[in-house]
Amino acid sequence: MLNVYLLPSQISQIEAAALNKAVAVVIDVLRATTVITCAVHSGVRRFIPVLDIAEAERLKTQFPDGSVILGGERQGLPIPGFDLGNSPQDYTPQRVAGKTLIITTTNGTVALHAAKTAKKIIPAAFVNASAVVESLQDEDNIAIICAGTCGKETEEDTLLAGCLVERLLDRRHYRLNETGESVRRLWQKDYTSDSVAELLRQSTGGQNLIRIGLEDDIFAAAQIDTIDTVAEYEPYFAQSSGRTAGVDKA
Ligand code: MLT
Repeated sequence: MLNVYLLPSQISQIEAAALNKAVAVVIDVLRATTVITCAVHSGVRRFIPVLDIAEAERLKTQFPDGSVILGGERQGLPIPGFDLGNSPQDYTPQRVAGKTLIITTTNGTVALHAAKTAKKIIPAAFVNASAVVESLQDEDNIAIICAGTCGKETEEDTLLAGCLVERLLDRRHYRLNETGESVRRLWQKDYTSDSVAELLRQSTGGQNLIRIGLEDDIFAAAQIDTIDTVAEYEPYFAQSSGRTAGVDKA
């Protein structure tokens, strides 16, 4: 089964109950899942997505050794008092290697939480699309969940969903849901990073970023397959004192 959801709210109660048998691939191209992927690639030891600013600040106090960085955005902009905003290119090894990233964003971290019951949760981006597909090769049951923006479907997320569906189907057969069939048609095999950047510029998320002066982030998020790292969200880390892994590299 390969099911695509254009918003977390499109997952029915029945499907949510069955999510524990699926790998969830969560997409927020602009920019949460791109940021998380870049952060893990730059050596973040683990990441913890949280839903609000107060929770991020509270959780930070549990790491008094200075090993935590706070990242994310509200209305696209860096959060006052946080170490980093939500620009993928800011998550350099110099800034983040060895750290725990606590991140809160408007939609992406909400989508990661919506996938919480899945047997495995993978944040995906254009920068690691092939690596994500490769990591899914033995999976029979996959749910691709787009974050959207404030309850509305977004072109940038559906485009990556289409890319992943096409590439997964190139490798083997899956039964697709109707949404999967429709996003599949959005992706064209000859798309390059430049054509993706152009499409992202026109998208809802892209237009928002241009409006607030963060157009460079679009270019960073549009690069196809520049990273071979696949992050994994392990939701129970925050509650479990014994475990140290919040992310894995494939
Ligand atoms: C989100 O989670 O809504 C996005 O990452 C928003 C953004 O990057 O501005």
